[in-house]
Amino acid sequence: MKKITVIGTGYVGLVSGTCFSEIGHQVICCDIDQNKIEQLKQMKMPIYEPGLEDLVRKNVHDGRLTFTSDVSVAIQHSEIIFIAVGTPMSETGEADLTYVKAAAKMIGENLNDYKIVVTKSTVPVGTSRIVRQIISKHAFTSVSFDVASNPEFLREGSAISDCMNMDRAVIGASSDMAAKIIEEIHEPFHTKVLITDLESAEMIKYAANAFLATKISFINAIANVCELVGGDIVKVAEGMGLDSRIGNKFLRAGIGYGGSCFPKDTLALHHLARVAGYDFSIIQSVIDTNDKQKTIVIDKLLKALGDVEGNAISVLGLTFKPNTDDLRYAPSLSIIPILLNKGAKVKVFDPIALDGVKRYFGASVTYHDDVYDALHDSDACLVLTEWEEIVGLDLDKAKSIMKEPIIIDGRNCFDLEIMNSRGFHYQSIGRPAVGEERIGNLAVTN
Ligand code: UDX
Repeated sequence: MKKITVIGTGYVGLVSGTCFSEIGHQVICCDIDQNKIEQLKQMKMPIYEPGLEDLVRKNVHDGRLTFTSDVSVAIQHSEIIFIAVGTPMSETGEADLTYVKAAAKMIGENLNDYKIVVTKSTVPVGTSRIVRQIISKHAFTSVSFDVASNPEFLREGSAISDCMNMDRAVIGASSDMAAKIIEEIHEPFHTKVLITDLESAEMIKYAANAFLATKISFINAIANVCELVGGDIVKVAEGMGLDSRIGNKFLRAGIGYGGSCFPKDTLALHHLARVAGYDFSIIQSVIDTNDKQKTIVIDKLLKALGDVEGNAISVLGLTFKPNTDDLRYAPSLSIIPILLNKGAKVKVFDPIALDGVKRYFGASVTYHDDVYDALHDSDACLVLTEWEEIVGLDLDKAKSIMKEPIIIDGRNCFDLEIMNSRGFHYQSIGRPAVGEERIGNLAVTN
């Protein structure tokens, strides 16, 4: 059992701190945001994440997990300090290290004994060394310390199980002893451990996210070509994925990736390479492909309706993926303004994120927490997130309440034959359109 302090109670900090307590460590999660800490003490989670609240409750109850806004005391208390603060995207695309640097300064000022300072936030290569310099500069004593990089690979929506059953732990450390201690912390996870130098550990996180983003943009580009030359992207991806060198994951075509990591990390890696003198053009193409892919459903909608002015358009699913309330870089935030600009009456449905989205669209759209209310009397519907409520839609009921049975599906949620037999006009991504003739003179064919 180790004493661990986690600075930052965002996604990464709160989930990993909770999981470290679950495997037996004594964990303090701290944050300068007093309000957040007060809420956490009352068991109110700052994020929607399945299973998180139960695990927090259990470990707080068992005395292994505590919360405080007194960051100084939390730092002094533990031997191992994880920095898990945000590294948002700055205007130039590079990672903004303001919060990481502020955390390092506080650690320096409170360095009362040997500590290992582990960066968990996603940071550019070289950051651990900057953290080391800042700590040394602000330390009043000559107490020794180590720095390390231990990136987090969890996905929103399945963060707890990703953390408890991690594929691997990557540890880069400034000394063998520090690497060994961090490895020991991970033992109860029974996972593969890769020990590297500091820079490699930092690069692994960026490279992994950029590679996954590349897979998504690649399959989306193939889907777009399939639409022009024939083929069904679902079958194409299945056939590609059977090659064990490629693998079947992250080959779902759709309206592109969003969320807190891929958009930010691809840009940050591109920036990092450019500053170092390398034009990482593959990553630029991945970013450009993704930007275009986000609004592809608008072209399909216009193909079906000709014009959306005055039409009621239901937008189903607002978050960047299901099982999260996160709207960061969600395609819905790019698509809805275009619909509004074109004069459409927009009706939105999301099972979790309606309150969050009100901040962006106010009274310019109508909000529905029932998917059928959102579909009622609509001229067409756009599917943007594959929530269970949407994938499991009662299609007959949907058809009976829509003014026109037109579904433009950005997530390939429905079977083509079923959509055909139910009489829908249905366009998805990288698959043949269904029922185009059914919208008669409304259709603008190319
Ligand atoms: C991602 C990484 O998976 C995780 O390892 C890292 O730590 C943080 O970033 P997350 O953003 O939570 O996690 O979600 P993920 O499930 O990876 O999906 C990201 C985006 O890609 C979503 O918008 C999703 O819809 C999209 N996606 C994913 C696809 O379009 N197709 C796919 O095949 C997979």
